Amino acid sequence: MFTLNDNYLKLPGSYLFSTIGRKVREYREANPGTEVISLGIGDVTQPLAPAIIKRLHEAVDEMAKPETFKGYAPDLGYEFLRNTIADQDYKARGVEIAPDEIFVSDGAKSDSANIQEIFSQNSRIAVCDPVYPVYVDSNVMAGRTGTYDAATGLWSDVIYMPCREENGFAPELPKETPDIIYLCFPNNPTGATIKKEELQKWVDYANQKGAVIIYDAAYEAYISEDDVPHTIYECEGARTCAIEIRSFSKNAGFTGTRLGFTVVPKDLKDVNGVALHGLWARRHGTKFNGAPYIIQAAGEAVYSPEGKAQTREQIAYYMNNAKVILDGLANAGYQVSGGVNAPYIWLKTPDGMSSWDFFDHLLQQANVVGTPGAGFGPSGEGYFRLTAFGTYENTVKAVERIKKL
Ligand code: MLT
Repeated sequence: MFTLNDNYLKLPGSYLFSTIGRKVREYREANPGTEVISLGIGDVTQPLAPAIIKRLHEAVDEMAKPETFKGYAPDLGYEFLRNTIADQDYKARGVEIAPDEIFVSDGAKSDSANIQEIFSQNSRIAVCDPVYPVYVDSNVMAGRTGTYDAATGLWSDVIYMPCREENGFAPELPKETPDIIYLCFPNNPTGATIKKEELQKWVDYANQKGAVIIYDAAYEAYISEDDVPHTIYECEGARTCAIEIRSFSKNAGFTGTRLGFTVVPKDLKDVNGVALHGLWARRHGTKFNGAPYIIQAAGEAVYSPEGKAQTREQIAYYMNNAKVILDGLANAGYQVSGGVNAPYIWLKTPDGMSSWDFFDHLLQQANVVGTPGAGFGPSGEGYFRLTAFGTYENTVKAVERIKKL
């Protein structure tokens, strides 16, 4: 008789956004005709930009002709896309990343969940608290996190780096030494960022300790302030200690079409001098058959002059929503942060309400869905996340409803 992987059985509850989805579905079923506005999961609402749609159509037509038909994509990504990324995301910022250090994938979620596979079982991970749940859950699945304490919401073998109001929602260098450090800036869920000199400290620390940083830069397109790094490779020494994960979901609306990439520099080596690059290529080649040609072609169109102008407009649209939420809730007396370099607004729940109580309150009284901070980790308790990815009309309406509570 078969048995299951014990590690999976340790996972508490269901995945955060699945839990929210279920609760909202149940509420809708119980209250038919009620208009519920979702500012919960960070899913975009603007359609794909015209330049992207045009390239998608062309690429579909190419698939219809024998001379341009494409079968399996190269498992590490088409050269045309890897060259464009190397040029425009890195070289244009004065950073040298070779095209073959870029691994194209179906998105940042899978990459950030899968990358831990190439590290040894006994690696100690450090995460921000609150944190995008995928980093911890994927390490639970790998059996790396020890035991779970339901009372505190903490795993015994994970190093937590609390990010709270007192430290400006920025993690501090941990006292215990980790092997793998997860950082995400602009941050999901708090919307906080750190300046380049702060990130440099993390790079220096990782190099000194022989740790690796897994840097999730999925929200870099939302950076509006100077001095906030767009890539960790802007920091000196990052090539020997950092992996960077990027997404097309938030900067270009690919949440439904799926596209992302991970950078693994060839200089990044473990304690025995083994390069991670070859290992990740081996893993990718074995477990992934390449993102679809038509999607990679559309991804290249994001970098065309029209694509850049159109996606910039969409980002401005979402950031205007962020301002509507920030200003509206601040005027209503809420304590709010984020929303300046990120499409997430992090607010303190009123009257010391728990995050999940506030979730229920908002859903039932205002018919607005957000994400409870506690779902991202114990330090998220007492906080709540709203996304700027809604439509402008719904965002305005949601803020008005919240103000009336
Ligand atoms: C979020 O809402 O945190 C993200 O959109 C989820 C994701 O990107 O997987």
